[in-house]
Amino acid sequence: MRIVLLGAPGSGKGTQAKLIVKERGIPHISTGDLLRQAIADETELGLAAKKVMDAGELVSDEIVLGMLKDRLNKSDAQQGFVLDGFPRNLTQAEMLEDLLTELNIELDHALLIQVNPDEVVARIAKRAEQENRTDDTEEVVRNRLEVYREQTEPVADFYRKQDIVSEIHGTGTIEEVHDRIQAVLRF
Ligand code: AP5
Repeated sequence: MRIVLLGAPGSGKGTQAKLIVKERGIPHISTGDLLRQAIADETELGLAAKKVMDAGELVSDEIVLGMLKDRLNKSDAQQGFVLDGFPRNLTQAEMLEDLLTELNIELDHALLIQVNPDEVVARIAKRAEQENRTDDTEEVVRNRLEVYREQTEPVADFYRKQDIVSEIHGTGTIEEVHDRIQAVLRF
C-alpha cells in the first residue's frame, strides 16, 4: 500500500506514520527525518538544509526529490511506503507523480490529518519542552504554519482531483486517530 500523509506541522503525521508502518510492514519515509539525519551527519546537503529548516522555510525541491528518489529505490520500499512530509508544494506533487509514473506505480491513499491551529501550536510547544528541535520555537512554528497554508494546503486539492483524499479528524488520543485511519485503510 502506498500512502501519503498530509497535515499541518504538529498534526500527528509522524506519530500516525509509525503506527501504520508497524502494522503493515512498509517503511516510513519522512523527508524531515532524512534532512535531520543529513544535518546530524554534517553532510554538505545537511549543512545547506539546516539554515532553511531553522527558519521554517522549505528546502529546495531538487534536494528533497533527490533524497526521496534514493530512498524509494531501496528494496524495502518496493511493496509500499508511508510518505510523511512530502509532497510539500504543487511542484513536489507533480515531481512525485512523474517519479511514480516512471516506476509504474500509483498512490492508494492521501490522508489529510486535520487539527485546529491552536491545538498544533500547543502540541509543538509541549514537544519543545521535551525535545530539542531547533525549528520548534514559537516564531519559527508560526512561519511553518504560514508556509503550510500557502504552499502545502493546495496539495490536498491536487489529490482530491485523483479522488484519493480522506480527511482524518486528528484531535483525540493517538489511538483514536489511528482507529480512524485504520477504518479508511480497511475500506
Ligand atoms: P517535518 O519534519 O516534516 O515537520 P512538520 O511537517 O513541520 O511536522 P512535525 O514533525 O512538526 O509534526 P507531525 O505532523 O509529524 O506531528 P508529530 O507526529 O511529530 O519538516 C521539518 C522541516 O523540514 C520543514 O519545515 C522543512 O524545512 C523541511 N522539509 C521536510 N520535508 C520537506 C519537503 N518535502 N520539502 C521541503 N522541505 C522539507 O506530532 C507532534 C507532537 O504532537 C508530538 O510531540 C506528538 O507526540 C504529539 N501528538 C501527536 N498526536 C497527538 C494526539 N493525537 N494528541 C496529542 N498529542 C499528539
